[in-house]
Amino acid sequence: MKVGIDKIGFYTPKWYVDMAKLARARNEEPDKYLIGIGQTKQAVIPNSQDAVTMAANAADQIVNDDNRKKIDLILFGTESGIDNSKSAAIYLQRLLGLPNTIQSVELKQACYAMTAGIQLAKDHVLAHPDSQVLVVGADIARYGLHNAGEPTQGGGAMAVVISANPRILAIENGSAHYVADIMDFWRPLYATEALVDGKYSSKQYIEFFQQTFAQYQKQHGLEISDLQALVFHLPYTKMGLKALRAILPETDESHANQLLREFEYSRVFNRQVGNLYTGSLYLSLLSLLVNSESLNETQKIGLFSYGSGAEGEFYVATVQSNYKQALHESTITNVLSNREELSIPDYEKMFKSQMPLSDADFVTDYEKDSAKFYLAGQKDQQRQ
Ligand code: CAA
Repeated sequence: MKVGIDKIGFYTPKWYVDMAKLARARNEEPDKYLIGIGQTKQAVIPNSQDAVTMAANAADQIVNDDNRKKIDLILFGTESGIDNSKSAAIYLQRLLGLPNTIQSVELKQACYAMTAGIQLAKDHVLAHPDSQVLVVGADIARYGLHNAGEPTQGGGAMAVVISANPRILAIENGSAHYVADIMDFWRPLYATEALVDGKYSSKQYIEFFQQTFAQYQKQHGLEISDLQALVFHLPYTKMGLKALRAILPETDESHANQLLREFEYSRVFNRQVGNLYTGSLYLSLLSLLVNSESLNETQKIGLFSYGSGAEGEFYVATVQSNYKQALHESTITNVLSNREELSIPDYEKMFKSQMPLSDADFVTDYEKDSAKFYLAGQKDQQRQ
């Protein structure tokens, strides 16, 4: 039985900052951000959007009444959780009008958690073929203003429905994992911004990719030439290019050029959003599916997921016939084309206006937010 991705939804808030302008404001060469980091725009997250509302806005695009009858599990990957106890998935169950009889759980392992959700969902559907699973990844990537991590911020949410006989991608059985207890990127409970050893994290990412890719090849007899494309977790789009380049010597020139061409399609959307943490790999996958001109039924895509701390997974999925019809292309492209640019001072103001980590009542700037689901604020220590 084939199991995999039947639907994909994507949401990012309506504001962005232009990376060339941000570079100039930080006394950097624009090409450092545009080419060296590989980002042209960066999503700016207003205080009226959090992991839950962004996930609801992404999932709302794909969950219809038929899904409401079949979804019996929500797996919510995030490292921007809004509560140390209650799962973000429970809020989603209510906001989406899903039945009270389903299972709902939040998962955490940095940017890897949405992949963990997808693999757990696949096994769930294999055991219960009539059921469907809603898996989401939603995050706000924050490092702070005026530091090296700033050009790699961003945010948004991805949502997928995992089912039998999927219309977009069938996930192959088996995957390669690598875990090691390292401190490359982390966010202590008291911190609103991530701490990172940037150069070390980029080096570890490549090592984890090479390790899991080699392990998968050995265990499953995969040749690099079996892959039409490789998609990566993209904390910044140059990161994926660096990882891809690390394995290109394993293939001939024409296949290497094909992988590089497909990689360019896979970073079109991520270039305009920045890091979504858990959702980044799946935005890149969506970017490839929407923009590539040469993907066909039965072709295989390799997917590399990386979550700092750190855990890597490499797996393979097969493109399904008519996958384009199952993608809501106009909804997806509208999310990106209907955004508004912020000046650098307005971006800095929005960045600093987050809801405080305190028990105080707080009203967000929700009037400016055109999304269906938004956070109105905090009252009596409860998010509204
Ligand atoms: N034109 C073109 N390129 C230029 C340039 C110019 N004028 N000026 C500089 N560059 C290039 C540099 O050569 C460099 O390229 P390479 O990486 O290929 O060598 C690139 O621009 C970046 O320059 P620096 O290395 O000097 O950049 P930096 O020290 O300011 O920081 C960073 C870069 C380490 C990625 C930093 O942004 C950071 O810490 N980001 C957050 C951490 C991160 O994203 N890590 C990724 C792996 S961890 C992960 O994946 C999990 C996650 O989601 C966080």
